[in-house]
This record gives sequence, structure tokens and C-alpha cells, in this order.
Amino acid sequence: MKIVMLGAPGAGKGTQAKMIAAEYGIPHISTGDIFRANIKEGTELGVKAKAYMDQGLLVPDSLTLELIMDRFTKDDCANGYVLDGFPRTIAQAEALTASLKEQGDALDYAIDVDVPDESIVNRMSGRRACIACGGTYHIVFNPPKKEGICDLCGGELTIRKDDVPETVQKRLNVYHEQTQPLIDYYNGEGILRTVDGTQEVAEVFESIKAFLNA
Ligand code: AP5
Ligand code: MG
Repeated sequence: MKIVMLGAPGAGKGTQAKMIAAEYGIPHISTGDIFRANIKEGTELGVKAKAYMDQGLLVPDSLTLELIMDRFTKDDCANGYVLDGFPRTIAQAEALTASLKEQGDALDYAIDVDVPDESIVNRMSGRRACIACGGTYHIVFNPPKKEGICDLCGGELTIRKDDVPETVQKRLNVYHEQTQPLIDYYNGEGILRTVDGTQEVAEVFESIKAFLNA
């Protein structure tokens, strides 16, 4: 199964993608997580990506496409994947469609986690993230079992650099300009499914499973 998660920054793409990955036995591939891991390791890619990410801007398509196309060649992608944060521009979506088509393949679903902008800034201020494994929590809505510690790997939880309110607003603007058009793109392909992302985490997941198991 090949799935793309769509939605504004903070809509809950990562939270749901992890649950989908566990339920269906496919890898969760987050371009944001891969960039953050590279920043932490101080790689050349990380240095380049950081300059854009800290400002709330998109990393250029060329860098992102090289990274993701390489990721698809790994063995764990044989039965599909759930993509989180990619594609993020029409150019990225078209490149993905073309690359799958070359192999006689196509995406199964694009799931749009729909949350209005007003709810987003609130969510971001309470987010805590594990850089080691990408685990994501919220101090009120989805707290870790032990404060400051990742349930999944025991890593330290931190506040993401791009979660300060001014940068969140900028990321929302970038989302509306460059990523929201993908909703129409995938609607045109007939694979768009929209879920109300303002529900509780478990309810959002139930709605997604209802689509995927249909
Ligand atoms: P990325 O890491 O993808 O960030 P994003 O899209 O801004 O999305 P977030 O990770 O902030 O939110 P999310 O939807 O995953 O929400 P989450 O589940 O954490 O990208 C970061 C940057 O990398 C970009 O700005 C760009 O620079 C670069 N980049 C990445 N991919 C790129 C690409 N393809 N092209 C170019 N540049 C790229 O949830 C948010 C919070 O809400 C959490 O605290 C969570 O616990 C809580 N929460 C989740 N669901 C619920 C719920 N139902 N109710 C209440 N709280 C909830
Ligand atoms: Mg995320």
C-alpha cells in the first residue's frame, strides 16, 4: 500500500503516519525527520536544509527529490510506504507520479488531515519531539508516559526550532501557497480521502482505517 499524508504543519500527519505504519507493516517516511536527522549529524545535506527549515521555508525540490528517490530504493519499501511531508509541491507530486508510472505503479491513497489554521498554533506550542526516532507528543493532548522522555526509544524530548509562533505562521503561509494545491491534484487522480483532523488522535485514526479497509 502506498499512501501520501497531506495536511498543514501540525495537522497530525506524523502522528497518524506512525500509527498507519505500525498497523499495516509499512515504513513511515518523513522527509522532515530525515532532514532533522541529517542536521543533527551535521551532514552536508543537513547544513543545506537547516538554512531553509529554520526560516519555515521549503527545502529546494532538487535536494528533496534526490533524498526521497534514494530512500525508495531500500528493501523495506517493497510492500509500500506511508509518506509524511512529501510531496509538498506540485513539482514533487509530478515527479513521484512519473517515477511510479515508470515502474507500472501508482499511489493508492492521499489522505488529507484537515485542521483549520486557528487550531494549529496551539498544537505547535505544546509539541515535544524526539530527534532520535521522530516520536511526537503533545504536553496536553498526547503526553509521553514520563515527562521529557520518548515512550518509543527513551530519547530526550525537545521543542523543534521551527515551532516558535512566528515561524509556525510562516510555515502555514508556505503550506497554503505551495502544498494545499496538492489536494486538488490528488482529487483529480481520484485517490483523495479527507479526514477531520480536529477529532482526538484515536478517532482520526479510526476514520483513516475506515478508508484504508474499505
Ligand atoms: P515537517 O517535519 O514535515 O513538518 P510539517 O509539515 O510542518 O509538519 P509537522 O511535522 O510540523 O506536523 P505534523 O502534521 O506531522 O503534526 P504532528 O503529528 O507532529 O517539515 C519540516 C520542514 O522540513 C519544512 O518546513 C521544510 O522546511 C522541510 N521539508 C520537509 N519535507 C519537505 C519537502 N517534501 N519539500 C521541501 N521541504 C521539506 O502533530 C502536531 C502536534 O499536535 C503534536 O504535538 C501532536 O502530539 C499533536 N496532535 C496530533 N494529532 C492531534 C489531535 N488529533 N488532537 C490534538 N493534538 C494532536
Ligand atoms: Mg511531522
